[in-house]
Amino acid sequence: MLSTQRWHIRRLRASVSTFADDVREGLLAVPRRLPAKYLYDALGSLLFDAITALPEYYLTRAEREILERDGDAVVAAAGSPDELVELGGGSGAKTQLLVEAALRATPSVQLHAVDIAEEAIEAAARRMVERHPALTIVGYAGDYEAGLEALRLDGRRALMLFLGSNIGNLDPHDACALMLLMRTALRTGDALLLGTDLRKDSAVLEAAYSDALGVTAAFERNILVRINRELGGTFDLARFRHVAAYDVESGCVTSRLVCLRSQEVHIAALGLTLRIQAGETIHTENSYKYDEAEIDAMAAAGGFERVTSWYDAAHAFALSLLRVA
Ligand code: TRP
Repeated sequence: MLSTQRWHIRRLRASVSTFADDVREGLLAVPRRLPAKYLYDALGSLLFDAITALPEYYLTRAEREILERDGDAVVAAAGSPDELVELGGGSGAKTQLLVEAALRATPSVQLHAVDIAEEAIEAAARRMVERHPALTIVGYAGDYEAGLEALRLDGRRALMLFLGSNIGNLDPHDACALMLLMRTALRTGDALLLGTDLRKDSAVLEAAYSDALGVTAAFERNILVRINRELGGTFDLARFRHVAAYDVESGCVTSRLVCLRSQEVHIAALGLTLRIQAGETIHTENSYKYDEAEIDAMAAAGGFERVTSWYDAAHAFALSLLRVA
């Protein structure tokens, strides 16, 4: 069979709003903000992959270490699933480890890959079906909500993957809402594998989100590039600096773009002119960190029960298997 017949991508419409609407709403809010999902255009996805290779960004290496060591145990604990569903898997480097583990335990596997970046799904799908003859892939190009709504499970047992501490990019209320949506998409006996970064020293956390080379800063400022290109914006990139700060109490690393010198920004497609003052910030991303009790509480609020967790040797990151309660 031709490998092209074993994967296809469904292009989903944005569930609530569009880039233009979200940019208008976010830039007019106080304080200003831009939704992080728009960081991941084709270039943004490549820049994020570069982040995962940075010395300061330990998260991806820690999670990969766990998957390499415990992938078979995860699959066994999840009941040897023949369907994997991944939200926000990007380039699929970690997905591949679970696909391989699943294929060691069951004859054929279907992967449902939901990601906002269509280019990333396509590259991952081509590579994976080529390598694994018993794998089929359905891609859903869209956000998490649209993907979960479009998803139809028809296998024997499903394991949903939400890795990379992506859950931490949602504030507690939205995280709970998304957990409930994931739960609704699953059936009794199915499970969710949740990757969460753990609370730790603030210097380590802040370095992970503001690397010395400036890749994270480029990744973040790419959203302004997108606004300039796609919406006819006039942001002067040189006047924005990326800053990450950890708040111990909430356990959240906040990423912001700080305006260094006052500027007037015009966005043609929105018919909008803004004066952004020096020192003003545009909030781009939260990355919440957790302890075990917080993972349990989040699981319970989302209608799941934690079965077990696996950690990397340095205990920086947790992979938790949650079953539908
Ligand atoms: N899910 C990733 C995280 O929270 C996303 C991420 C990594 C990110 N670095 C970032 C998002 C920098 C915005 C800015 O770790």
